[in-house]
Amino acid sequence: MATTAAAMAATSVVVLDRGNNTTCTINLHGATVVSWRVNNQEQLFVSKLASFDGKKAIRGGIPFVFPQFGAWSFGPQHGFARITRWHLERPPERLHNGDVEAIFSLMDNDFTRSIWNYQFRISYRLILREKELHFHIGVYNPSKELSFTFNMLLHTYLKVPDVRRCQITGLQGCHFIDKTRENSLYQEGREVVTVNEWTDRIYQHTPQEHVITNVVSGRKMRLHKYNFPDTVIWNPWIDRSREMSDFGDDEFPNMLCVEAGNVTSPVILLPGTAFEASQILQQFKCPYTINSKNWRGKLTAFPLYD
Ligand code: BG6
Repeated sequence: MATTAAAMAATSVVVLDRGNNTTCTINLHGATVVSWRVNNQEQLFVSKLASFDGKKAIRGGIPFVFPQFGAWSFGPQHGFARITRWHLERPPERLHNGDVEAIFSLMDNDFTRSIWNYQFRISYRLILREKELHFHIGVYNPSKELSFTFNMLLHTYLKVPDVRRCQITGLQGCHFIDKTRENSLYQEGREVVTVNEWTDRIYQHTPQEHVITNVVSGRKMRLHKYNFPDTVIWNPWIDRSREMSDFGDDEFPNMLCVEAGNVTSPVILLPGTAFEASQILQQFKCPYTINSKNWRGKLTAFPLYD
């Protein structure tokens, strides 16, 4: 009985249901968005080998990276927020326009202070709209004396039929750190970025919007971000997939991480001040299929809204 209760507590989820088979599921472990379905169509990738043991980060969906991006001498890679149980601050509530909202929160506790000895409060508000998912984040420093610095990133795993056929807009001209080439700095020359090999890049000072083509069912995903100056593009490809125990060897073609964050310049939060950032994911229809000869070169010509 005790084990069952503990197991349930470790895996508890919150569901936002907008009707019409449009839902969003959040696992309190890391406040990880583990599913976003639009008209019953899943938009997010979660590995078939993902662990839901309440300890490891969930491999897929949208893990919340804070206060560190990448390796860290104080604690786990990508920080502790994605492996800490969050609190459901406000249960799902239907708004007057039919959208559904829920608020999650995380504040310092014995575990976080054992790694990173700062007081903090994070509020994470999610709103499920008809074809959009909104993320609003607030970080507050309640200390009267101490400032702290942090990285933050929404580690979005998009579900895609074949990553080789996706194109990502908005990166041309941006400098990027290539983690697959000893962190060398390059400048992106391509109008649209494609992924055909192990890719792990931190693009800096990216614009507020990216469009990713050929996500589920030949649709596009618009990623709009505010106060997230960097965009990480990641796909582990063949060899790195094999190195991850919670990721299937054959799964890399079906995911693409496009991650909005504050990575290269950490945020400095002075005592008594707050930081805000947000992201909107919007799924919309692609008027041409990927195989259509009319499709290429017309990416930017279409309206962003259905
Ligand atoms: C990406 C990083 O954001 O996350 C990669 O740029 C990393 O370097 C990847 O491999 C996955 O990290 P993790 O800790 O979830 O295996």
